[in-house]
Amino acid sequence: MRKHVVAGNWKMNNDIPQTEALIQDLKRHAKTSEVEVMIAPSATNLWHASELLKGSDIEVIAQNMHFAENGAFTGEISASMLKSVGVKTVILGHSERRAYYNETDKSLSKKVNSALDNGMTIVFCFGEELQDRKADMHQSVVKDQIQSALFHLDASAFKNIILAYEPVWAIGTGETASPDQAQEMHHFIRNTLVNQYNQSVADDVSILYGGSVKPSNAKEIFSKQDVDGGLIGGAALNAEDFFAIVNAIS
Ligand code: 13P
Repeated sequence: MRKHVVAGNWKMNNDIPQTEALIQDLKRHAKTSEVEVMIAPSATNLWHASELLKGSDIEVIAQNMHFAENGAFTGEISASMLKSVGVKTVILGHSERRAYYNETDKSLSKKVNSALDNGMTIVFCFGEELQDRKADMHQSVVKDQIQSALFHLDASAFKNIILAYEPVWAIGTGETASPDQAQEMHHFIRNTLVNQYNQSVADDVSILYGGSVKPSNAKEIFSKQDVDGGLIGGAALNAEDFFAIVNAIS
């Protein structure tokens, strides 16, 4: 059975004092249903955030990693380094990484392999740009992204993969995909997985929606059959809003 997940991607926000304050606020809230809650602070805060959240049911996850185990990659962080600070899950393929740091489907497939080889769980992001949707290419763009980065894997690998559909035009813009647009894409993704693998891979993988999810629209988006939760940016920086979204899962 697939699980519900709400993950907060803090992006490049919050230094140590701000991280401490937000985590204190988060700890004042409780989830009211069966949902896995994750937060992704910056790399400099991962260790401290993990310590602060020890014993809580909020998992601290990373926003990115390099594909190599170690070596001459100045400024980068490997899977084993993440594991050494207690992080077991990593976001890969976020559209901001693709757009600003030239991450390609090919380099992402290497990151995917490294994360899985290290026993980590991946929140794998993908999504079309506005021009793709306008040209009615959104499904083929998404299919290509998933195929290039993930379809070399065995079906069993999907036990450690969470998918996150984030249409680029809806990220940080206040513009959300309508619940029906999200449902249509998530259903298409499951069908793609049935064709490539089998029904149980498609049924068991969690598919999150991301892009301007807020307390005011979360319930409707999450009510869709193939939407298993959300990847939250801006609204994850406020504990009350974040938990309103977490608790919009029923
Ligand atoms: P916003 O919720 O700010 O649109 O960001 C979504 C996102 O990019 C999460 O990874």
